[in-house]
Amino acid sequence: MNKTRSSRRDFLKVSALAGLGASAARISTPSAAAQDVATEPVTLPSGIVIKGDVSVTRPRPAGQQPVHDLTTQPLDKVRVGVIGLHRGMAHVDACLKIEFCEVVAVCDVFDDRAKNAANECEKAGAKAPAIYSGTEHIWEKMVERDDLDVVYIATPWSWHVPMALGAMEHGKHAFVEVAAAVTVDDCWKLVDTSERTRRHCVLLENCCYGENEMFVLNMAREGVFGDLTHAECAYLHDLRGVLFSLGTEGDWRRDYHWQYNGNLYPTHGLGPVAQYLGLGRGDQLHYLVSMSSPEKSLTKYRDEVKPNGGRHAQEKYLCGDMNTSIIKTVLGRTIMIQHDVVSPRPYSRINALYGTGGTFFDYPERLAINDPKPYGLKSKGPDEWLEGEDMKQMRDKFTHPLWRKLRERAEGAGHGGMDFVINWNNLHRLHKGQTPDSVVYDAAAWSSIIELSSKSVATGSVPVPMPDFGRGIWQSLSPLGIAGKEPSES
Ligand SMILES: NC(=O)c1ccc[n+]([C@@H]2O[C@H](COP(=O)([O-])OP(=O)(O)OC[C@H]3O[C@@H](n4cnc5c(N)ncnc54)[C@H](O)[C@@H]3O)[C@@H](O)[C@H]2O)c1
Repeated sequence: MNKTRSSRRDFLKVSALAGLGASAARISTPSAAAQDVATEPVTLPSGIVIKGDVSVTRPRPAGQQPVHDLTTQPLDKVRVGVIGLHRGMAHVDACLKIEFCEVVAVCDVFDDRAKNAANECEKAGAKAPAIYSGTEHIWEKMVERDDLDVVYIATPWSWHVPMALGAMEHGKHAFVEVAAAVTVDDCWKLVDTSERTRRHCVLLENCCYGENEMFVLNMAREGVFGDLTHAECAYLHDLRGVLFSLGTEGDWRRDYHWQYNGNLYPTHGLGPVAQYLGLGRGDQLHYLVSMSSPEKSLTKYRDEVKPNGGRHAQEKYLCGDMNTSIIKTVLGRTIMIQHDVVSPRPYSRINALYGTGGTFFDYPERLAINDPKPYGLKSKGPDEWLEGEDMKQMRDKFTHPLWRKLRERAEGAGHGGMDFVINWNNLHRLHKGQTPDSVVYDAAAWSSIIELSSKSVATGSVPVPMPDFGRGIWQSLSPLGIAGKEPSES
């Protein structure tokens, strides 16, 4: 069958569904000419080929069932193994503080990192975990163990998918660091393996569990923002030093800057926004357009600082300093998402949400409410951000229940405590045999932005239709509830 035609038919089918789901919203779709460009394979200047079918929703292989509501046997102790012991140490530390969790095995290429992790466990009064170290494939032995429930994967991006597949094939749930995968093909492998093996594949998107993000989620669910219309999010983090830092991300992360020109790290921004808007649950990513600024800052930094004795002088970076994508959802809502890890500037994920009832912006946090009266606020209305006392009142009322419950225990944990909250929540779900907040479809959809944005940039910003990894399940689901108010949490 002609791939271009089938892709376009698939896209139009989604557009038709959009009409069903959104009586109020008029959905514009890309022109036929734009769709034709978007469904052709594209060769990037790095030689990497983005396939023509990245926009296609692949049919579910026979015998597979969706996993959006997959529940499992409750576990008295959730037994975990952790691969990659740099970022992975945040997960080891969190697991050691969770009474229904046990660290059974740790794995890293480097012996000293693995031994150090085992020592940390012993220092915390836990049993010494088994150590797997010394080679790049030693993790394959670890996932064969029959006393593991979860495998954490906190390794360079190129290892995420083989390790997650290996874990699930051996009957373990895979908890994967961000982004889960770089290519759409790999996203589908995660989806199909999770469905076939009936194991969860959970993206460790800690930003969904930040205090501000959960405050906004709670307000969104409680109707403070009215009808949600638009969101803005980003990963704006000056990583120039880190990108050349050997022994850590400088060993591998810079590679993506010569391979792709798009959004290389979409999930920290998109994860929370996806949960506010109910993407994959009542609404769905539809298509995106993307463009990049020129590449300047990484080259300038490399040439001026000459990191690592000037050994990177010949590298040619492709990724523009600032990548901006705009996503249209099936219900017609819009999301602006940016990526910039090389400009000199303070950190921000933007984290903004608009609705008919109000607007939130982060960095620094600001909230405007259309009608402040029902909340007893002093603010006169939406043309001013809430002042200190008003903001405090909203905080008191809408702090997320999970944060009220875990605040003290999260104290001192990584990234303002969110690293503890995400781990507690995911492990608690498995402890109770419940479905985690985010499943493989979220991991795939949020990660797919890397390749889809790169394709749009490479084709002069044509709209690129986004595949539906849940294969239609979004239409029958409601947006994520507020953990802590669900019966299971009481
Ligand atoms: N969610 C967050 O806030 C956050 C923060 C930092 C990093 N990350 C993510 O975590 C992952 C790891 O990042 P990092 O900063 O720790 O990178 P890193 O390069 O500093 O550490 C990776 C570790 O994995 C080990 N490793 C590599 N290949 C391996 C293999 N085949 N088998 C066993 N161990 C292997 C390395 O030896 C190293 O110790 C990345 O996906 C990154 O995007 C997420």
